[in-house]
Amino acid sequence: MPVSLQGQVALITGASSGIGKATAFLMAERGAHVAINHFHDGANAKAVACEIAATGGQALVIDADVSDEAAVARMLAAVVERFGTLHILVNNAGIEQNAAFESMTLQQWQRVLDVNLTGQFLCARAAINEFLRRGPDEISVALGKIVCISSVHQTIPWARHANYAASKGGARLLVETLAQEFAGRRIRVNAVAPGAIRTHINRIAWETPDAMTKLLDMIPYGRIGETADIARTIAWLASDESDYVTGTTLVVDGGMSLFPSFAKGAG
Ligand code: BGC
Repeated sequence: MPVSLQGQVALITGASSGIGKATAFLMAERGAHVAINHFHDGANAKAVACEIAATGGQALVIDADVSDEAAVARMLAAVVERFGTLHILVNNAGIEQNAAFESMTLQQWQRVLDVNLTGQFLCARAAINEFLRRGPDEISVALGKIVCISSVHQTIPWARHANYAASKGGARLLVETLAQEFAGRRIRVNAVAPGAIRTHINRIAWETPDAMTKLLDMIPYGRIGETADIARTIAWLASDESDYVTGTTLVVDGGMSLFPSFAKGAG
């Protein structure tokens, strides 16, 4: 039986495409009311909301830059106004701006840290304040759940992606620290660390047969990940099924982080 999210309110950042979009669909299918955050991608976000509404679900579209404190405050206020409260935050919005380190601009460094790490901080803080304001209810066992989307690059160093890897390494300790700080108040905070998933962010790594062959060399399980692989993991971590899980990162990568080259190595 699929995990139920009946009646829970979920805010998913970066939900107009990729992993966020798949998560919005799955959570709505499992009974959640979903707030679909996007940043200036209104047409795609509205299409996600319309598809959810067409199957009887409830969805709200919110345009907000997650790294903008005032915009995040307005976003939470809009969720509470529409759905009454919030039970689940999926901190998914993330970007890459790759560059060789010696020529990486401060702007490239800053923007990636702003969206990927400060965005997770601002949204988590706003969500936690709403969980605490509302207090316990009948809808969910925990007071609230936060699932942060990290990456295998929270542990695997990644040349030409110093900004991205630093943001994901930071996200890991943000998650563990929040989990520690709020476990006593029954707020669970976990992370999902995807490997290579078929989305636009890494199109270059899979769109040609040549690139795909090189990519599969790094994935022992023998296939690229799909957004649904990650969405199912997020839905489980956000559900009461995982009620005793907090401060954990679930790595969902087909074995990419298992040092696959050692499988063929001598020694
Ligand atoms: C990145 C992808 C990359 C994957 C594995 C993800 O976090 O966003 O671009 O393909 O890690 O390296």
